[in-house]
Amino acid sequence: MKILVINGPNLNLLGVREPAIYGRQTYAELEAFIGKVAKELGVEVEVRQTNHEGVIVDWIQECRGRFDALVLNAAAYTHTSVAIHDAIKAVEVRTVEVHLSEPKNRDDFRRVSFVEDVAERTCSGRGFESYADALRHLAS
Ligand code: DQA
Repeated sequence: MKILVINGPNLNLLGVREPAIYGRQTYAELEAFIGKVAKELGVEVEVRQTNHEGVIVDWIQECRGRFDALVLNAAAYTHTSVAIHDAIKAVEVRTVEVHLSEPKNRDDFRRVSFVEDVAERTCSGRGFESYADALRHLAS
């Protein structure tokens, strides 16, 4: 099984960005963690990060015929992007929404997710473990 993991805006700043919410571990550590879990589960992963909404749309479209599933932390675009919602629907790839924090317990504007209803599951609120939960779900 080949899984694309997409991380959206500001996740490259993990470790320095709001550590009280996102922790002190860096983005490089997140990539290493995802790679380790994937290896344990016997799945292949490709992990990417971008700060640009259109690039996320391009990468979702790339899933067609190339990846079996998508793990998506769209970060702030989760709460705003109809384009990302539409791309997931168009490609019909198995998608798991991921968040390090629990957005619904934070600001009101984070209660809306444009990814939620086109994803088969949401894994959130468990830091790096949210990604492990997503990979385990897809691998099972
Ligand atoms: C996030 C939650 C979002 O609300 C926020 O905009 C992010 C990160 C998370 O992983 O907890 O950038 O997706």
